Amino acid sequence: MPDNFSMYSDRVMEHFKNPKNVGDMENPDGVGHVGNPTCGDVMELYIRVDGNVISDAKFKTFGCGAAIATSSMVTELVKGKTIEEALKISNRAVAEALGGLPPIKMHCSVLAEEALKSAIDDYTKRNKDGPRQSRRKARSSTKHKSQ
Ligand code: FES
Repeated sequence: MPDNFSMYSDRVMEHFKNPKNVGDMENPDGVGHVGNPTCGDVMELYIRVDGNVISDAKFKTFGCGAAIATSSMVTELVKGKTIEEALKISNRAVAEALGGLPPIKMHCSVLAEEALKSAIDDYTKRNKDGPRQSRRKARSSTKHKSQ
């Protein structure tokens, strides 16, 4: 049997075997949900935004190894970025951060970029009046006001 894993970089394999930031997020500030109709893979990405900065990101991906690795990498890349900076993260940047992807797997990195953009889009729609404090801060200041 040919070793198909040899077409992947060590970093792709690392993020595939031990993905970072997998799972749900309680009360996310933005949720992205995208799918690739050709392969059927689905990606969900959650972001927490404090002020204008993405302080946390998590994902759930039902898909191929490259989709899992790119989801993992995009959640790592986006943490600490402003919304404007995060919007500039391209699928190529995600693939490069993983040490490259085989050409037939580049579309998986597109899914990761789209999931991030979809989450930011959701955040923007929820906050049309501009950036706001995180829910935690908002809750504590509301509490403070009512006391
Ligand atoms: Fe579907 Fe990779 S094969 S995203």
